[in-house]
Amino acid sequence: MVGQKRFHLCELSVIALLAVFLLGGCAKNLHDDHDEDDHELPVVSIDSSFNAKERLGKLLFFEKSLSTPPGQDCSACHDPEIAFADPLTGLPVSKGARPGLFGNRNDMTVSYAAFVPPLHFNKGEDVWVGGLFWDGRVNSLAEQAQGPPLNPLEMANPDTLTIVEKLRQLSYASLFIEVYGSEALSTPDLAFDNMADAIAAYEMTPEVNPFSSKYDHWLRGEAELSEQELRGLKLFDDEEKGNCAACHPSRPEEDGTPPLFTDFTYDNLGTPRNPENPFYSLPPELNPDGFSFIDLGLGKTVNDPAQNGKFRVPTLRNVAITAPYLHNGVYKTLFNVLAFYNTRDVSCWPDPEVAENVNREELGNLKLTNQELEDLVVFLETLTDGWEELDSDDD
Ligand code: HEC
Ligand code: HEC
Repeated sequence: MVGQKRFHLCELSVIALLAVFLLGGCAKNLHDDHDEDDHELPVVSIDSSFNAKERLGKLLFFEKSLSTPPGQDCSACHDPEIAFADPLTGLPVSKGARPGLFGNRNDMTVSYAAFVPPLHFNKGEDVWVGGLFWDGRVNSLAEQAQGPPLNPLEMANPDTLTIVEKLRQLSYASLFIEVYGSEALSTPDLAFDNMADAIAAYEMTPEVNPFSSKYDHWLRGEAELSEQELRGLKLFDDEEKGNCAACHPSRPEEDGTPPLFTDFTYDNLGTPRNPENPFYSLPPELNPDGFSFIDLGLGKTVNDPAQNGKFRVPTLRNVAITAPYLHNGVYKTLFNVLAFYNTRDVSCWPDPEVAENVNREELGNLKLTNQELEDLVVFLETLTDGWEELDSDDD
């Protein structure tokens, strides 16, 4: 049973934590069997390089008691096995902690979200840049981490008081005191801020941002790309062909940061509605517009119709393992996404969800052959982290 494998805290090698666990004993299994879709969680083992805040953040990221009803932690929708994206790849959006409820968007990978700058307007380029979530509505990882616990369609707690009571009961609650001082859990607001700060610290660790794909190894001169992968990269970079790097930069930054495959700007690709989105059929108190719901993306965040239908350019790191695709999960395969880029304006594709502001200069009629689309897919597959391990598995 999954529950018995959870939180093998005894295995922690970190001596500093011992005192905490002697008080609390091994973490009790706070999980109940409520969540019938529970997936196999990896044992929460903590890297010995982690400081106390990162350890706390990781424990909280995998803490199933923090939803109402209990059972849904961050990893339920951000599974480390698939680059911290949603393991329910058959569903375009994510399931809530409360049965039968769903969010309205495809979830995002948490890996590399630490590099997203706060939302700002770049006057020189006349574009919005940064901000977390598909629509840029929050500015930091810590602010982001306060969203899901109170979102009725996600972890569904009614208020921060409920959350702080849960935090106080954690077997490792004293870790809060160790990191944030004796008042750490004294008020709901402070406790909630500390929780979010610790989760953000974990999300900034190399464990979540490993830069360990085949492509990273290639950039460092430690691996060779196959002929097909190199063809894909060339198409990806070529302004006359894929022109992908115009929005998904593929080369290291001037300061040496490896490429993040996003320039953090926003575009309306003409992404169609996804009729399979279960959000459409939620009751009116959760979705007042029913089937006529339209996701305005950045336009809603900045309250400007000229930005309607635009979503943040996502990283393409790990994209081969984070299906489905685009903000509403409308396409299930990479080939489909690329076929859409290629022939959106010259073949039969469904209408865009938001007809205004569609980018018609950089995509829609790329004139790529099927072979070239496949080369691009094969290149994108080199962006999956953990390449060494994958490679040795194949041997
Ligand atoms: C019910 C599923 C669900 C749960 C639980 C959940 N998330 Fe998410 N997460 C999502 C979805 C869906 C999005 C995209 C939502 C949007 O853009 O409106 C997202 C987006 C994010 C992002 C933004 C990434 C980016 O590039 O902007 C981060 C970071 C994140 N989640 C972290 C967390 C943390 C931390 C927790 C736990 C406190 C958590 N999530 C719990 C579904 C979930
Ligand atoms: C004009 C900017 C722009 C260009 C050029 C561009 N993209 Fe994108 N890409 C985006 C935006 C914006 C999204 C998200 C749109 C949405 O969700 O509605 C996206 C999404 C994607 C996704 C889905 C990722 C996910 O996690 O859901 C893939 C795959 C992708 N792009 C690959 C490519 C490839 C390959 C090319 C070149 C053929 C390319 N893109 C060219 C802006 C761009």
